Amino acid sequence: MSEIFYPNRDFSKQANVKNMCEYKETCAEVDDDYEGYWDEMAKEKIDWYKPYDKVLDESNAPFYKWFTNGKLNVTHQCIGRHLKSRKNKAAIIWEGEDGSRRIITYLLLFYRVNRFANLLKNKFGVKKGDRVVIYMPMIPEAAFAMLACAKIGAIHSVVFGGFSAEALSDRIKDAKAKVVITADGAFRRGNPYLLKPIVDEALEKGCDSVENVLVVQRNFEEIDMVEGRDHIYNDLIKLESEFCEAEEMDSEDPLFLLYTSGSTGTPKGVQHSGAGYILWAQYTMENVFDVKENDTFWCTADVGWITGHTYIVYGPLAMGATTIMYEGVPLYPNAGRWWKMIEELRINQFYTAPTAIRLLHKVGADEPAKYDLSSLKVLGTVGEPINPDAWLWYYNTIGGGKCPIVDTWWQTETGGHIVSPLPGATPIKPGSATFPLPGIKAEIIDKEGNPTPKGEKGLLCITKPWPSMIRTIWGNPDRFVKSYFGDCKKDGKPVYFSGDAAIYDDDGYIFITGRTDDVINVSGHRLGTAEIEGVIGHEEHVAEVAVVGKPDDIKGEGVFAYIVTKKEIDEESLLKNINKLITKDIGPIARTDGILLVPGLPKTRSGKIMRRILRSIAKGEEITQDISTIEDSSIVGIIEKLFKSKK
Ligand code: PRX
Repeated sequence: MSEIFYPNRDFSKQANVKNMCEYKETCAEVDDDYEGYWDEMAKEKIDWYKPYDKVLDESNAPFYKWFTNGKLNVTHQCIGRHLKSRKNKAAIIWEGEDGSRRIITYLLLFYRVNRFANLLKNKFGVKKGDRVVIYMPMIPEAAFAMLACAKIGAIHSVVFGGFSAEALSDRIKDAKAKVVITADGAFRRGNPYLLKPIVDEALEKGCDSVENVLVVQRNFEEIDMVEGRDHIYNDLIKLESEFCEAEEMDSEDPLFLLYTSGSTGTPKGVQHSGAGYILWAQYTMENVFDVKENDTFWCTADVGWITGHTYIVYGPLAMGATTIMYEGVPLYPNAGRWWKMIEELRINQFYTAPTAIRLLHKVGADEPAKYDLSSLKVLGTVGEPINPDAWLWYYNTIGGGKCPIVDTWWQTETGGHIVSPLPGATPIKPGSATFPLPGIKAEIIDKEGNPTPKGEKGLLCITKPWPSMIRTIWGNPDRFVKSYFGDCKKDGKPVYFSGDAAIYDDDGYIFITGRTDDVINVSGHRLGTAEIEGVIGHEEHVAEVAVVGKPDDIKGEGVFAYIVTKKEIDEESLLKNINKLITKDIGPIARTDGILLVPGLPKTRSGKIMRRILRSIAKGEEITQDISTIEDSSIVGIIEKLFKSKK
């Protein structure tokens, strides 16, 4: 059994949830009256333009609707309503990789977002419901752009700046975006790099819906501009008014799309709507991070991922906090960069991914001692399971043994945290996300809805709808139903299956064991193996390929490919070719760490590749699966031998 770490008493006294009795009382209250609880939360936390009629409409399940016919604007929740009491408070503190800083107060944020919204509306004719793709580096204008869309009711789709032209173009086309917002470039590891040429390349691939491209000048590099289509933000923004009427949005109007990988086919445009999402963002900021009025909150994610959406932009701003945005990488100019920022900016809550913790532990274990990290109150992790070694280093060395670690389990589809400790209440165990948040019904069950016995692997499901849940997959409602509500039932009703497996320990703590589908988690980023296989399959020497995750000390999982070739080539050259293709078609995050040339792949008699076996081999596990259904079972032994000899 893992060691238990109890919350610090002084911390608990001031926390929003002070002990497990309070947690259990809230859970009982929710069990008693689920909708009543969310009604209370929505009334207390959201500044509605017009009240809703009904808390939860289940009539068209699983297309659930929350707070029906309520009217609001998320930017009023995030900016407008704070102007009375917080106009001069820092909303965003941005730090460039070169150490320069910009401080944007709530009042200045209000003006920036209004000008931006006016620009989109007046110059580019963006209207409610139009899609706007944001392909940006980590600069405040990325947040202004998101909020400007929200202000006028446009649906933003932020595409991570590390994705390639091909990946960007797929996302633009799927969403039929009218405008693309980008930057000339930015800085990484001390060097300037360019983004705009990637947009140009993407738009050459038949993105007919795009009428205009707005370019923020960040590093003032020479870039090509297409006459009539491309516009410089820095020039145009000055011409716009600082006032803009917010669009009155329905609770269920879409707020944004965010593309994420699935187990098959193309990435899915996960659609979130305004009211439920913003409520959840704020609720979890208050309860999971326990952020207080004078706190400074730092989430190190990129805005291109859901973590950046909810915990850099929407969550901190909804509750009127100060959020940090950092442009660069953790190792620039050295492995002390983040700790220096924590000291200088007096960060109170720090939220990052296990992969970064492992990296900083490995390359700079002595660095934290050089800085004063005593401002920290709560530490958080997200994106992948955290191993006990990394957890203990984070807890003792970064948190000084006094900061609770909130290991938050959630997904792009859930909008915000689902399973997580409450820092003042929950006794924590390294590697466990502990218990569902109050108001959430997350359970480990089998396909029929029976609870999984303690110590046995089961499926992590959310068995009741929740306010910030995915509403649909953009343009593909059937895929939405099939992907999330097709596998598990409880009491005969389809319930949301996350795709993750998990275990209850003897004390009922939830330990996430990883994905059950063909999705791998590299440095906390979700990658679909089918997508990567599709790209590798185009390499001229490749006849067949199967991609799986292989354990990696820093990244959690690395991409590993078993390849059958049709023409002779050595492994090193093939790996190089493949990575060139992947960088071009997806982006560097999906690069393959290793390949193994094999004479064949294990397949069923109907020709389906048995990936579970290949996964086990890559993990160095004994093969316990039944291999009698394999067409040629001798191949398993051959691959195992090749794999071992390579190591
Ligand atoms: O497998 C789980 C893992 O990340 C997946 C969700 O990925 P994504 O939608 O990209 O969102 C990442 C950030 C929320 C999950 O299905 N995951 C997320 N958090 C944890 C985790 N695995 C273990 N522990 C976590 N705390």
